[in-house]
Amino acid sequence: MTRFSTRAILAATRSPEVNQVPSAIPIYQAAAFSTGDAAELGDVLTGARPGYAYSRIDNPTTAALGDAVADLEGAEAGLAFASGMAAIHAAILSTVRAGQTIVATQAVYGTTRDLLVRVLAGLGIATEFVDPTDLAAVDAALVRAGAPVLYVETISNPTLVVSDIAALAAAAHRRGALLLVDNTFASPYACRPIERGADLVMHSATKYLSGHADALAGVVVGGRERVDALRPILVDAGGALAPLAAFLVLRGLPTLALRMERHSESALELATWLQDQDNVERVYYPGLPGDPGHAVAVRQLDVFGGMLAFELSGGRDAGRAFLDAMRIAERTASLGAVRTITTHPPSTTHRQLDSAALAASGIAPGLLRCSVGLEDVEDLREDFERGLVAARAAEGAGSA
Ligand SMILES: Cc1ncc(COP(=O)(O)O)c(C=O)c1O
Repeated sequence: MTRFSTRAILAATRSPEVNQVPSAIPIYQAAAFSTGDAAELGDVLTGARPGYAYSRIDNPTTAALGDAVADLEGAEAGLAFASGMAAIHAAILSTVRAGQTIVATQAVYGTTRDLLVRVLAGLGIATEFVDPTDLAAVDAALVRAGAPVLYVETISNPTLVVSDIAALAAAAHRRGALLLVDNTFASPYACRPIERGADLVMHSATKYLSGHADALAGVVVGGRERVDALRPILVDAGGALAPLAAFLVLRGLPTLALRMERHSESALELATWLQDQDNVERVYYPGLPGDPGHAVAVRQLDVFGGMLAFELSGGRDAGRAFLDAMRIAERTASLGAVRTITTHPPSTTHRQLDSAALAASGIAPGLLRCSVGLEDVEDLREDFERGLVAARAAEGAGSA
């Protein structure tokens, strides 16, 4: 008979036998999985037989998320990571070596830019930034750099530049490069870049895939061999996703279609309305017929998405006043959630850029970015009206 502490440990770690299929994927909240004997552990660790040994290497809940997103993206395989940035980092590192140069879109998420110019540059991986809508410039950069990778975002953060994935995949492949696409803004409901020739697709699953702003996660999908090449980076660098976070993102996926439809409908309505407001200089939304990305968006996106941006005529002060007047929208930097989020990129997500780099990325000082949520759109319009009134007052005060 074992003693109390031993009994307590054995009693609390005896896994129940479940012969039926649960209606939700269980959270395998375990650091490790024990085996029947040493040979089995050795086989699992070396991949000689399927199974789980240690959750940094593999975990059933996080594996289920990688598989599910691969399915939605039309990819052979997927791998989940602790965050979107861990996913992007692994995807890039699996495709470049020191001494090589990446060609990347100049309209890129601020932290991805930092990863390229701060972290990877320090490891001897250079980046040349290009306008992804200028195919001649992309081709010239690929040739000049002898680049192994072309990196773009389906819809860019924060200026909603739409990249023509099919054209860019052809351009990259013609020069022997791979196309890596961050599909966070579009989500696989709006666009599936693999179907258009992309080689690896990354997500900040923190955003639309999860949808509820309660988990950080990232996913990379692609062909099986390419995704397998990411495993050593996941295992050795340690960007493994927590099982609870994987569960939360999995819970978001069944409603992704419904959410994206509603996000897109409301965003189009607000974008159309914003165009007619007198202190709004420009609206960026691929669903607007006048948007430079509209033609590509019509071809490539099933819905135009929930992200929009606009420039206020009053510049930085007007942008700040607009934000401060919001009562429904949250003032924060994330996106893709049930609740509307507005942000001022020059003072948040892109604060690390100086004026010249901001201008090069097409970001005006009065630019606001909005992730349109699932609230009643009339309430959102009233919130925006409040913001515009405050922005006008700030503009008037500034010019007085
Ligand atoms: C387009 C895009 N890619 C990647 C990321 C990074 O994702 P995470 O915050 O999950 O690391 C973000 C975050 O805002 C993003 O907007």
